[in-house]
Amino acid sequence: MKHISDMKKSFIELFDQEATAAYFSPGRVNLIGEHTDYNGGHVFPCAITLGTYALVAKREANASRLFSLNMPEAGVIEFPMQGAIYDEARDWANYPIGVVRTMEEAGYRADGGLDILFYGTLPSGAGLSSSASIEVLTALILNDQFGFGREMIELVQLSQRAENTFVGVNCGIMDQFAVGMGKKDCAMLLDCNTLEYRYSPIALKDSSIVITNTNKKHSLNASKYNERRRECEHALSCIQQTKDVRSLGELKAAEFDSIADTIPDVTERCRARHAVHENERTLKAVAALEKNDLVAFGQLMNASHISLMDDYDVTGEELDTLAELAWRQPGVIGSRMTGAGFGGCTVSIVKDNAIESFQRDIAAGYTKKIGYAPSFYVAGIADGTHRIEL
Ligand code: GLA
Repeated sequence: MKHISDMKKSFIELFDQEATAAYFSPGRVNLIGEHTDYNGGHVFPCAITLGTYALVAKREANASRLFSLNMPEAGVIEFPMQGAIYDEARDWANYPIGVVRTMEEAGYRADGGLDILFYGTLPSGAGLSSSASIEVLTALILNDQFGFGREMIELVQLSQRAENTFVGVNCGIMDQFAVGMGKKDCAMLLDCNTLEYRYSPIALKDSSIVITNTNKKHSLNASKYNERRRECEHALSCIQQTKDVRSLGELKAAEFDSIADTIPDVTERCRARHAVHENERTLKAVAALEKNDLVAFGQLMNASHISLMDDYDVTGEELDTLAELAWRQPGVIGSRMTGAGFGGCTVSIVKDNAIESFQRDIAAGYTKKIGYAPSFYVAGIADGTHRIEL
């Protein structure tokens, strides 16, 4: 990590004034419950110690200036605090700008501008929610600097709305929720229908969470993501012809199986089957973990990957290669893709004394098959977006 002291120096050089506040926003990894959030089901993510840092100072002008140490070539990006619009040329900055705009539309109008310097330790586009991380970070900065007095849950919802309406990815609530509401050493079981949640301590004894990045380029596939969402919505509308349900998340797996043929399209039937079964798997997995049955939890993680591969079709060769190698590797309790899919990362639970051989063997097997190497991160579980010492 770049030290805050380095960021302070860059801040003065870039903006000709000193930073007055610092913030950190984590990324997230989802342990189980994939593509269930927008289907009204459950998810079980945690916030991670990789994330986005920001240094901030107010300025009088009614325009803000942004700079990312990860994208120095993009330069300082300036935009008006009122009425900002999406501009492709502003590239990464559309995420924070979208939050400013969405908050303004919700009635939280800033009376001045900000200078913000960002530095991220998350790989971008790798499915660890670098976008949600910077969105919730921006929402908290605005809330704090302009005294809007909103609760974190509202900042989470505004950040999701910014991604849906400004950036145009029709994502569910999971990522922004996990980033904003995370708690050190805990995962969160969230009911995406009601937003009821509880924290579940993750004590993995002699094991750790290992994230493996496929390093596949251009993994963020918004059009495929939005397509899956539409397929599920249509499948639901078929079920609703004969059954009174508001979301796929309300159905038990056995109940769904008995009425699955009310969905005439085979592809849509598979998508819905994944959503319903994955939701049930998530509840079972959390129950297993809370009984300290790590073996059962791992098996459910593996089953989740298979369902995402066969029924939901969002894995692809790179993720399948990583998962299949992991399943054969000694000391692996469970392994699956995490996030939206189409590239990105897997999450594995690996015995501490097997992590070294895991990284060595998977790197070798993956490179042989795919032609380039994966990357590994052993993640700690972090608190949600918060202000830090400057
Ligand atoms: C992305 C979205 C989330 C969720 C996952 C899949 O990360 O942003 O809302 O749908 O994909 O579980």
